[in-house]
Amino acid sequence: MAVDPSAVAAAIRSVVGAAPVVPLHEPNIGELERRYVDECLESTFVSSVGAFVGRFEQEVAEYTGAAAAVAVSNGTVALQIAMSLAGVQAGDEVIVPALSFIATANAVAHIGAHPVFVDSEADTLGMSPSAVAAVLESAERTSAGLVNRSTRRRIAAIVPMHTLGHPLRIAELVALADEYGVPVVEDAAESLGSFVGEKHTGTFGRLGTLSFNGNKIVTTGGGGMILTDDLELAKRAKHLTTTAKLPHPWEFEHDEVGYNFRMPNLNAALGVAQVERLDGFRVAKRRLAARYAEVFAAVDGVEFLSEPAGTTSNYWLCAIRVEGGLAERDAVLKATNDDGLLCRPFWNMLNAQKPYRDAETGPLPVATDLHATVVCVPSSVALAPA
Ligand SMILES: Cc1ncc(COP(=O)(O)O)c(C=O)c1O
Repeated sequence: MAVDPSAVAAAIRSVVGAAPVVPLHEPNIGELERRYVDECLESTFVSSVGAFVGRFEQEVAEYTGAAAAVAVSNGTVALQIAMSLAGVQAGDEVIVPALSFIATANAVAHIGAHPVFVDSEADTLGMSPSAVAAVLESAERTSAGLVNRSTRRRIAAIVPMHTLGHPLRIAELVALADEYGVPVVEDAAESLGSFVGEKHTGTFGRLGTLSFNGNKIVTTGGGGMILTDDLELAKRAKHLTTTAKLPHPWEFEHDEVGYNFRMPNLNAALGVAQVERLDGFRVAKRRLAARYAEVFAAVDGVEFLSEPAGTTSNYWLCAIRVEGGLAERDAVLKATNDDGLLCRPFWNMLNAQKPYRDAETGPLPVATDLHATVVCVPSSVALAPA
């Protein structure tokens, strides 16, 4: 049965209450954040040096189970550096999902490499291992690595992304990538607090990355993190992102062209407070998801997107699939936004974005359908009081 947009708006209202405007996702800033930020200000170490950066790295490493975590200025540069450290070079190809935020492809392009877009799976919303297998199987094994037969470029990495916080089939994907000797760099920007079994997303590949943008489950205002179990790679990540300066009390000696991709101490102070509250955020978000699942079960033509079997999602953004296509989706977006419910669609497909229209692209039937039918609904922590 065709979806009734006003019934969708009414269902959301029954969960989020009557506030005139309900944003898609608001940060949750409390006393702890104020205390740590104040402490940081008092210390005068507000910029690239200070105790909160190391503390934030340690707390995120402990939370995720990664051996090391390196804080950087945002999730996009985290991806760029992680890919470089995985061996991606200018002229290479990197397999990425067509359905992702543009940063996933931009980080590839910033290295001078080329994204190859593949399809998603309907139940995980993430990169399809069989779509990746099709690309890898058609490539040629050479002494220089796996080479795309049509472009003659080396396939240097695979970058899956855990969409809206729902874990994709990452163990299967890593096993497949290992068969071909291609490293996996996980874009876990949206999935801090999401697990496959007991293992945190972002810790399956050679490296993983997080984002702490203002719309994420944990924010530092702007920021990112590189996760890895390889301590040598972590050391390289720290060196490269902090201008490649050799440690010395006063000399300015730099041994390569590094980047100023540091996370300022002020942002890290905010991050420490946020990560110490992360489990509370997760509980609230999962409670919100359960409430949405219940009300949407009674709305015809709507399916609430639940976490994939065997995983625990952080439900960063709750989302529904509406029966039909773009016209039905847009009618729901209009009805909800007209009512002050700031629902959003998925990003436009990356292969359709201007910078990437000529990129290599596999068949994309599932991603195309997800793009045309999914609507993200308001998901702030504050919407689910106990
Ligand atoms: C999937 C994905 N990858 C990468 C990023 C980039 O993170 P940032 O905005 O911190 O650069 C984001 C979020 O913004 C994202 O959602």
